[in-house]
Order: sequence, then structure tokens, then C-alpha cells
Amino acid sequence: MRVDYGEPEDLDVDALAGGWCSLAQQWLSDAIAANLPEPNAIVLGTVDEAGRPATRTVLCKDFDADGVVFYTNYDSDKGRALTATPYASITFPWIGIARQLTVRGAVVKVDAETTETYWRTRPRGSQLGAWASEQSRPIGSREDLAARLAEVTATFDGIEVPVPPNWGGFRVEPETVEFWQGRTSRMHNRIRLTVASGVIERLQP
Ligand SMILES: Cc1cc2nc3c(=O)[nH]c(=O)nc-3n(C[C@H](O)[C@H](O)[C@H](O)COP(=O)(O)O)c2cc1C
Repeated sequence: MRVDYGEPEDLDVDALAGGWCSLAQQWLSDAIAANLPEPNAIVLGTVDEAGRPATRTVLCKDFDADGVVFYTNYDSDKGRALTATPYASITFPWIGIARQLTVRGAVVKVDAETTETYWRTRPRGSQLGAWASEQSRPIGSREDLAARLAEVTATFDGIEVPVPPNWGGFRVEPETVEFWQGRTSRMHNRIRLTVASGVIERLQP
């Protein structure tokens, strides 16, 4: 299991001179064009109040200079970890095109209006599912879960499904952004931007 990533178009520090977003957008577009599965999937790393890390995959629904946004249940394990320790690391693992993008920084909740706007784009089934699931809590059986879904489906019959009070977006506000590009002989490119200082550095692979 050793892949030679070859010599793709080179990546240098000047690629981030105008900020990180345009290259990130380009790489996301490249991941979509390459038909990678779930190209907007990110691995989200959080730390709980005991200092224990946890990772899981979520979907990036938006990013711009202010940060990377994903949506979840605020009472889930990740939600509680981010309340206790509001810092995260997220990675887009675009392995099929030998790239990854990692953003690390402080985490804030997005405002209610932004959450509402996104919520309205979700299919009704996903909206009902969010109400039915106390994410990360144990449940006895699949049937119990189906019963909860039936209950919320009846509750909201014929009306718009509102945003659950414990559901919404988080934004990871970038402190550092690192672009990684696989190259031959493990001479990979790693370019890191430290946002506060504007310093752009090449890191050893
Ligand atoms: C491809 C993929 C996308 C996912 N997207 C989300 C998402 O956007 N939001 C979310 O809350 N969970 C998402 N999940 C489920 C999470 O990985 C995780 O199981 C769930 O959020 C509970 O995590 P927690 O117990 O650490 O809070 C996704 C899982 C996969 C595999």
C-alpha cells in the first residue's frame, strides 16, 4: 500500500498570498470534478472536558474567510465537547487526489438566522430525523427510533418543521490553514497560513 503521487502542478507559498479561500475553493472543485465520494466531508476533531480527543465525519456546508461551517445537534457528544472546549481541527481528506486541507481554530455557533436559512434547504425527512434523534444518546432498538420518528412526523403533520432548539451550525474560525499535496518520494508540499500574523510557511513533509 504505497502510492507514488507523482509530480502534480507544484504548490508554493505564493498560492496563499491572497488568503486561503480561493485555493480551498479550487481544491474542493477539483475533488468534485474527480468524483470523490462526499467531497465536502470533513473529519472533525474535538476535545472533551477531560482533554480526550474524538473524531467523526461531518459535512462542510459553507466556508469563507470567516471559517468553515457544519451543522449538528448541539447536545451531541461533539456539541458538548465544543461547548466545554471551543476549539476544533477539521480536515478535508481528499485522498483520491492526494490532497488534504486542515483548518484549526476557535469554534462559535452560527447565528440563528444562518441556521434557519440552511435548515429550510434540508429535505423534510432530514428535518424530522433531526427532531427524532437525541444524537449520541443510547436507544434500545431500531423500533424505538422508528417510533420517535412517527411521533414527530405526527406532531408536525401539515406544518413547516421548525429548527429544533438544540440544533444548528458551528463555525471553525481559522487560526491556521494547511494545504497538503502529495508528491513523489514523500517530498510532499505542505503550505501553512497562520491567519493572525499572515505568515505563510512551507513545512517539511
Ligand atoms: C459522510 C458522513 C457525513 C456526516 N455528516 C454529518 C453532519 O453533517 N452532521 C452531523 O451531526 N453528523 C454527521 N455525520 C455523523 C457523524 O459522523 C457522527 O456519527 C454524529 O454526528 C455523532 O457524533 P458525536 O457522537 O461525536 O457527536 C456524518 C457521517 C458521515 C459518515
